[in-house]
Amino acid sequence: MARLLCLVILPLIIVLLSSHASAQSTLSTGSSIPVEKHKQTFLTSPNADFSCGFYEVGRNAFSFSIWFANSKEKTVVWSANPKSPVNGHGSKVTLNNEGNLVLTDVNGTVNWDSKTSSGKGTTVVLLDTGNLIIRDSTGTKLWQSFSAPTDTLLPLQPLTKGTRLVSGYFNLYFDNDNVLRLMYDGPEVSSIYWPSPDYNVFDIGRTRYNSSRNAVLDTEGHFLSSDQLNIKASDWGPGIKRRLTLDYDGNLRMYSLNVSDGSWTVSWQTIAKLCDVHGLCGENGICQFLPRFKCFCPPGYEMKDPTKWNRGCRPLFVKNCSKTEEFEFVKLAQTDFYGFDLTVNHSISLKECKRTCLEICSCLALTYKTGSGTCYTKNVLYNGYSSTNYPGDNYIKVPKNMVSKHSDLSCNPSTEIVLGSATVLGALVAIFAVRMWGFCSEDQHKLLVYEYVENESLDKYLFGNVSTERLLAWNQRFKIAWGTARGLAYLHHECLEWVVHCDIKPENILLTRDFEAKIADFGLAKLSKRDNTSLNFTHMRGTMGYMAPEWALNSPITAKVDVYSYGVVLLEIVTGSRISSGIKVDGKEVELREFVQAVKQILASGDVKDIIDTRLNGYFNSAQAKDGKHAQHLK
Ligand SMILES: *[C@@H]1O[C@H](CO)[C@@H](O)[C@H](O)[C@H]1NC(C)=O
Ligand SMILES: *[C@@H]1O[C@H](CO)[C@@H](O)[C@H](O)[C@H]1NC(C)=O
Ligand SMILES: *[C@@H]1O[C@H](CO)[C@@H](O)[C@H](O)[C@H]1NC(C)=O
Ligand SMILES: *[C@@H]1O[C@H](CO)[C@@H](O)[C@H](O)[C@H]1NC(C)=O
Ligand SMILES: *[C@@H]1O[C@H](CO)[C@@H](O)[C@H](O)[C@H]1NC(C)=O
Ligand SMILES: *[C@@H]1O[C@H](CO)[C@@H](O)[C@H](O)[C@H]1NC(C)=O
Ligand SMILES: *[C@@H]1O[C@H](CO)[C@@H](O)[C@H](O)[C@H]1NC(C)=O
Ligand SMILES: *[C@@H]1O[C@H](CO)[C@@H](O)[C@H](O)[C@H]1NC(C)=O
Ligand SMILES: *[C@@H]1O[C@H](CO)[C@@H](O)[C@H](O)[C@H]1NC(C)=O
Repeated sequence: MARLLCLVILPLIIVLLSSHASAQSTLSTGSSIPVEKHKQTFLTSPNADFSCGFYEVGRNAFSFSIWFANSKEKTVVWSANPKSPVNGHGSKVTLNNEGNLVLTDVNGTVNWDSKTSSGKGTTVVLLDTGNLIIRDSTGTKLWQSFSAPTDTLLPLQPLTKGTRLVSGYFNLYFDNDNVLRLMYDGPEVSSIYWPSPDYNVFDIGRTRYNSSRNAVLDTEGHFLSSDQLNIKASDWGPGIKRRLTLDYDGNLRMYSLNVSDGSWTVSWQTIAKLCDVHGLCGENGICQFLPRFKCFCPPGYEMKDPTKWNRGCRPLFVKNCSKTEEFEFVKLAQTDFYGFDLTVNHSISLKECKRTCLEICSCLALTYKTGSGTCYTKNVLYNGYSSTNYPGDNYIKVPKNMVSKHSDLSCNPSTEIVLGSATVLGALVAIFAVRMWGFCSEDQHKLLVYEYVENESLDKYLFGNVSTERLLAWNQRFKIAWGTARGLAYLHHECLEWVVHCDIKPENILLTRDFEAKIADFGLAKLSKRDNTSLNFTHMRGTMGYMAPEWALNSPITAKVDVYSYGVVLLEIVTGSRISSGIKVDGKEVELREFVQAVKQILASGDVKDIIDTRLNGYFNSAQAKDGKHAQHLK
């Protein structure tokens, strides 16, 4: 009984202690806060606007951060070592007896250190402004978070000569000529995008002559910089909580807090059209704004990393400069790749411009302005963008054999594809190995150009009068079943968004020259939101015989409908007959459910040859037939 009482009381004490701890705004030497207490705040400013503690940045990954305490979601304004979070177990922050505020990882490695070394009596305080301060025993300020910004400036926090805001590859900083700029500083190239390098800084009201290099957001929503930049929030005036954040998309935005519901509204932003930010679509990628931001690869190129646009696109062809190859140009209307000009010629014809690019092996594309006859050839393709305001066209150089006969249709990427489910398709093309080479959309002409898959679809090899040379051997069937399963697993789990195909059947499984399976026809596919596991279609889709019972029952549709169809296909691959159009056993029609029961019994008995396609004459791997785990035999 006594033990039980203890168990009840102990959590109560912890709760009392922690509620006490969460109200404090000062920390003294010898204190240590373990990451396991991340649910509690470490320090809170006296006005309760800001809190400081462990912030969960990912699964089991934490940063030591300061955030707005009154916004709907924690809005982080500062982090110690933001690029390198610590483990969710065993990490801690300590104000040690030497007077250093130290963040240590699970294995004891120092992740971040204030390096104040101010001895006993050192205190850490979180001020009302959101500034975290370390003071020595005499009260002297030794370190402050305001001097080490991450991606956000709070009111009264200055940006100076030695500091910059960083968000991914994007930087806000004072350049060597005293001008405040935004730069994409990627692994391969760096490129300034604000203020636009097309203009003289004096023409846009800035100056290079004030070398104090200081910018600050005041308490009324003015952001003033020593280079004469002067910005005013749309809701300027006192009493509103604001922040200036360099967002992950490279745009610098001022936000105002709505205290009634804790939401943030943008009260000013630097870049009106996101395509003006450099680096978002990576090397060879092209940015489009219509009016939502989107990236695409030029014809003859594909995404390098299907999950990350900033990794850009890679060519689908290998260029060999010591070989004379036949190239052609594909026109991308009102498109340019900013910078990296190889040659610039004025008043020449498009034909001459193309010839110039053809003569230079390293030339990848050209941009041509018809009015002035200006020709820019490019050997590096960065900062691609497509805009109806751009007064020129880009021409991508691709091997002749890759250009489709219909290229005179003038593929225009600035039209959103509107084919039945083509928007879904477009998204899939970006993320799935069913590879699309390009699309055209002009008036009623709509074309999707796909990789050519040589050996037709699976049904041609299974059903009906199949010639002996077409009959699939067991190992080919196994490889196809395995490949299809992997394709589905990829669709369902690894894609950016979850995708349910909805129409898995042998007709939609295409076979390459080497009998690799490729899932095709996303005509019925639906993207489901990643955080949701079911869809609700109002109309039935799919093909009778392969359709899961959910369709008929009007139950929510999940990725399991594809698994059901796959099961039917798998039985068809193994038996070599159209299970989907009815099953006859000894001349008697049986239901699929009964058949599956029978198959289960046969599997349990261990003698599977009765259900294997008789045309294989007993040539099959019985271990694989019984149990798919033997897939390793494939590789
Ligand atoms: C400690 O852990 C961190 C993060 O997990 C890791 O980067 C570092 O290499 C580890 N150090 C040692 C000495 O094991
Ligand atoms: C330079 O900018 C600062 C503000 O950051 C201002 O106080 C100072 O007067 C400016 N100097 C000149 C010469 O304009
Ligand atoms: C703040 O949020 C409330 C509730 O959503 C809304 O009614 C109000 O208009 C918002 N105020 C501003 C200034 O956006
Ligand atoms: C380029 O082409 C030449 C001539 O055809 C050939 O000898 C060479 O191996 C090729 N180089 C590459 C990298 O393909
Ligand atoms: C274009 O300019 C380059 C030098 O930049 C020159 O070598 C070339 O001949 C010019 N092309 C034409 C067609 O004038
Ligand atoms: C099956 O195909 C072979 C050759 O392709 C043909 O000779 C035969 O008549 C066909 N049988 C039927 C029933 O269609
Ligand atoms: C598969 O495609 C290859 C390449 O086109 C061809 O040689 C082969 O005959 C095809 N196989 C069948 C069974 O059609
Ligand atoms: C899916 O979304 C709906 C509506 O947004 C929601 O009601 C449902 O709970 C979600 N289901 C899951 C499993 O998250
Ligand atoms: C699916 O949607 C229809 C109409 O939108 C609705 O009547 C039905 O209840 C929904 N079914 C489920 C299972 O959510």
